[in-house]
Order: sequence, then structure tokens, then C-alpha cells
Amino acid sequence: MYNYSLHQQINESLLNKKLDIGGKDISFHTRFVANATAIDALYKELYGNHPAASVGFQQLLATITAAYAHRDPALRQRDAEKEKVPEPWFLSNTIAGMSLYVDRFSENLQGLASKLSYFEKLGVNFLHLMPVFESPAGESDGGYAVSDFRKVDPRFGTLEDLQALRQKMHAAGMYLMIDIVLNHTSHRHEWAGKAKQGDPFYQDYYYMYNDRVLPDMFDAGMPEIFPESAPGNFTWSNECGKWVMTVFHHYQWDLNYTNPAVLVSMLENIFFYSNLGVDLLRIDAPAFIWKEPGTTCQNLPQAHAILRLIKQCVQVAAPGMALLGEAIVAPAEIMKYFGNGMYTARECDFAYNATQMALQWDALATGDTRVMLAAQHELLQKPYGTSWISYTRCHDDIGLGYDDYMIRNAGFNAWEHRKFLKEYYSGEYPGSPARGALFSVNPKTQDARISGSLASLCGLEKAMAENNEQAIALSIDKIILMQAHSFFIGGLPMLFYGDEMGYTNDYSYLQDPGKSYDNRWMHRPVIDWNKNQRAEQPGTTEQRVFDATRKLLSIRASLKETGDYKNLQWLSPHNIHVAGYLRSYAGKRLFCVFNFSDRPAYLTWYLFKEYGNPPAVLYDHWREEQLKVGFDHEYLVVAPYQFFLLEAE
Ligand code: GLC
Repeated sequence: MYNYSLHQQINESLLNKKLDIGGKDISFHTRFVANATAIDALYKELYGNHPAASVGFQQLLATITAAYAHRDPALRQRDAEKEKVPEPWFLSNTIAGMSLYVDRFSENLQGLASKLSYFEKLGVNFLHLMPVFESPAGESDGGYAVSDFRKVDPRFGTLEDLQALRQKMHAAGMYLMIDIVLNHTSHRHEWAGKAKQGDPFYQDYYYMYNDRVLPDMFDAGMPEIFPESAPGNFTWSNECGKWVMTVFHHYQWDLNYTNPAVLVSMLENIFFYSNLGVDLLRIDAPAFIWKEPGTTCQNLPQAHAILRLIKQCVQVAAPGMALLGEAIVAPAEIMKYFGNGMYTARECDFAYNATQMALQWDALATGDTRVMLAAQHELLQKPYGTSWISYTRCHDDIGLGYDDYMIRNAGFNAWEHRKFLKEYYSGEYPGSPARGALFSVNPKTQDARISGSLASLCGLEKAMAENNEQAIALSIDKIILMQAHSFFIGGLPMLFYGDEMGYTNDYSYLQDPGKSYDNRWMHRPVIDWNKNQRAEQPGTTEQRVFDATRKLLSIRASLKETGDYKNLQWLSPHNIHVAGYLRSYAGKRLFCVFNFSDRPAYLTWYLFKEYGNPPAVLYDHWREEQLKVGFDHEYLVVAPYQFFLLEAE
């Protein structure tokens, strides 16, 4: 609803900033007025009763205006170009990403800038840099404990290096993603320092208590994130004599978003990143940003209100920057991060498809795709205009976060099924080729997640140790099957660095006291560029994995129907070992079928006749050959861990 006085207020503040609201800044002004009512309503929903509400709101509006005023004209131009495309730019099949640690990949930011041709060769034009802002050595959680949101950690270089890299990337047609660690700061952040010294203003930036009354109330409902290495959700601070909420590690202090000053301060940081030229901002751990005693303190409605508010503000001042909510939550919960009601597709633009990722690992271990299918009715609810990050591995563990009922609907006992998966991937299950490890085992519930690199979990580590050529070939097939399935399913495929070369686990983290307590480091390799050179030598593992990955990305980039336009349909299951989906766009159809089992799978040709005009011929982009569609009593045979990418002709 239109709000006259808010409109006048915005006009005034823009004119004060000497913005030309009838001329060159007209689009900004229009966006601001158009979103003002939503911003106002969301803000009131969160802070309407807070004593500092109205001061905070003025600051919020001023922050938006300042962000736009400081936005580089080249970035404003890029915003306008992104808005010109009829569909949101990020749905495109031509974007493919890689997530990497700058220091472990290329030593520093300058090193990374010199490696852009590597990405071009692979077909990657989007980079997620793992956190590069200042974070105390030894207490950094891989950079997710930030002590200064605006200072690049000297280990990686300088802010100028980051800016230069971004410019070089944009000039080369690439996109940049970085994190905003929204939920917490390092206990060495300036705000935490002041809170430790007793400054009440900054103590209110965190959840701090003199006694255990509230901490106990919170703890009763809150699950533990790292039960082995960081049990409980509060840490005693000797410096100020208070209990501080620390949901993750003891050195990560949770920010108190019930205080509007925290929101405004973090919005300023968000705009600092948008004005660095970030194309997609990864909002770390958004599920946790609002806490209420008596709840799990995850996925609360107010957390969504904050994300919506951030989205509307970003939409005004930096519309070219999309938002990714890193919520690794149950399938029904994840959908809410895309917004609903009048906020449908107006909350986070992206979420990780962690459910699908874990389901792929489920299918690979069991050779059975029924659990995967049993989850799709939830995942298919993603609204048009939003997208997934599709992936097989990332820097984190694999959580088997899908619902028990999905496992039961597929005919299994949920507890036994999960137990099998954990044993399989940790290599304990008899005959398992996987070499991974359990992560964050909860002794009370026996819950656990899984660490390990793509290659090691697919059996390459064991096969190489045994010098077993046949097992090596099989594990490479599995690696490629997993990648292909996630690249073509829709969403922005995000490779994890090293996986394109088949890196196996790196156990050197055990020697480093800052890392040894966290086995996620086993799958965060240090790139050895001599090893990567082997991708040039025909027949090496590196060459086989790299070239296959590259080929998959190039096929995807050439087929518009692989973009994320709500154009995914699951094929009816004719064989429980085969997962199949249809991607379609403007009359083009791509049938993707994947055999997750270690035996040949038979698919009736009838399968391809159930979806529109029955095709007479299918072109397999993967093998580059035409297949004549057979009679209904004849079969397409899919070899173990093989797949087809079949375009209907
Ligand atoms: C996110 C990150 C993870 C980190 C956590 C705490 O889940 O992906 O690596 O440990 O947030 O910041």
C-alpha cells in the first residue's frame, strides 16, 4: 500500500544527498518508493516495539541511500544490464561456478587473478571465494569467524587485490560470490572487544547473560551444531563475566538481531560488499539469525522477516546483487527461504539444494533412487524466478537432512537406512569403496554427518591405494555420474575446487591444532599445480576427470533447456536404479537418465514416449551419437554408473 509520508521522507533524503530523482537517479528513486512500504512493514514487524525503533529506521533509510550514492557507475550499469534480460540473469544455463579457498587454491588473491584462464578452460565463469575477510588464525572456522568485515586478511592480500580481481573477472564475463557471515562475529571483532570491556551498547550486539537462567532456557530447545568440538550453545567470557551465546564455536559470538542497531550495522556491511561488485552474496547460516527461548532457534519467522527486509533493501540500492541463503535445513523448511505469499521469490534468490545433494549420495550408496524420488514433491515447489545452488560437494560435511518419512515411503527403515549410509561413506561397511569420516557425531542421538572429498567418497582413494585399474575406472565413472546429475538438474552448478581433478582426502589437517578438531578439512585440499598439469597427459586420472567435467559443462552451456526455468519434470520410474528427469524449454526436450547401480539397467523405450510427441530419434550429447528409439518391448541399456543426455529430435 502506498504511504504518502514515507514517499516524502524518501524524496527529501534523496534530494539532501543531491540525487537527481527526476533524471539520472530516477530508477533508484522508483525502486525505493516501490519497496518502501514493504521495508517499513517488515521493519515494524521486527522492531515496532523496540525503544530505538524510529532512530533505527531513519538509519536504515540513510544506509540505503548512501549505498546507492557510493555505487560505482560501472556497477549501476551492470545492474541495468542484468535487469534487461526477460528472466532473472542468474537462471541462465551459461553460468557455472566453483567454490574455493583462495590461499589453498592459488596462495592469494593476486595468484587467483592470474588463474582466470584455468576457469575459462574448464567452463567455469562464476567464483565463490571462501571468506577472505580478517579472521584470527587458529580460531577462524575457515574464515567464518570474522574479526573485521571490511579488511581483507593479509594472508590473502588486500582490499585492492580483491577489487582488482573482481574487475578482471567482470571484464572476462565472470561473476563473483562472497560471504556475509551474518549470524556471528569472531570474539575478536571490535564490537565483541567493546562488549568484553563492559560497553553496554555493544553488549547489546550479542546475547550476554550474567547467570545461567536464560542460557539454560535456550539450551533446552536448541540443538548442538558441533556437539563433539563445541558442545552447548553458550560460552563463559572471563573478560566480562558473562555467558555469551556461541551456537557454532566458542569463538563465534552470535549477533543479537532483536537490536535494530545490529541489523543496520550488518546492512552497511552487506552494502560494502555489494559495492565491491559482488554478484551473488552468500548469506551464511541465515536459519540461525533469530533466537527465542523455548524454540530450536532455527528457521524462525523473524529470521525470514530479516532476510526479506535485506532483500528489499538490496533490491533498491544494488539490484544486480542476488542473495543466496545458506540454509541447510529440511526440505519443507528450505522452500520458505524463497519467500511465500506476497514475498514469493522476494526473499532469497538462491538456496543450496542440500537435500538433492544428499539424496544423490544416498542413491550412489544404495544403487536405488526411490528415496530421491520420494523427496521431489517438496523440491519441485521452488518458485519461478529463484534458483538452486546444485552441487555434489562443498567445503562442509554432507548432512542426511531429508525427512524420515521420505525414507519410509521408499520402503526402508529410516534409522537403519541412515546407519547404512554413515557406515558406507565412512568406509566401515564391509566392501564399501568409500573413504570418508563421520563428522559431528552426537553421542546423545547418534546423529552424524559425513566428511570426505568427492573422489574419496566415490572410491578413488581406495582404488589408487590398491593400484586397482578397474576400481579406478569405476570410481571415475561415479564421480562423473554425480557431477552430471547435479549439473543438469537445474540451478547454478557449483563445483568444489579440486573435484575437477579428482583430489582425494588430505589428512595433513591432523597436524594443525587450529584444524585437527574439524575433519571437514580432509576435503579442503591444497592445490598442487604440478599435479594439475597431469590433466594435459592423456590417460591420467586428472585428465579423465577434468575433461569429462569440462565436457559436461560445455554441453550444459549449449542447451538453453538446462537453465532453471521451472522446467524440470521427473520421469516416471521404470527402473528403481535409474533416476531420470526431463528438461524442456521452448519445444526443446532433454531426457537425462542416470544409472546409480553397479549393474546394467534396462529402460523401456516407452519411457521416452510419455512426454509429448514421441521422438523417433534421440541424440546423446554425452556420447555424441544418435539413438533410434526402439519398440516398447525393447530396452535402452544403461551400463553401471553411466548416464545419457538425450535430446529429442
Ligand atoms: C556455515 C558454513 C560453515 C560454518 C558455519 C558457521 O554453515 O558453511 O562452514 O562452519 O556456517 O559460520
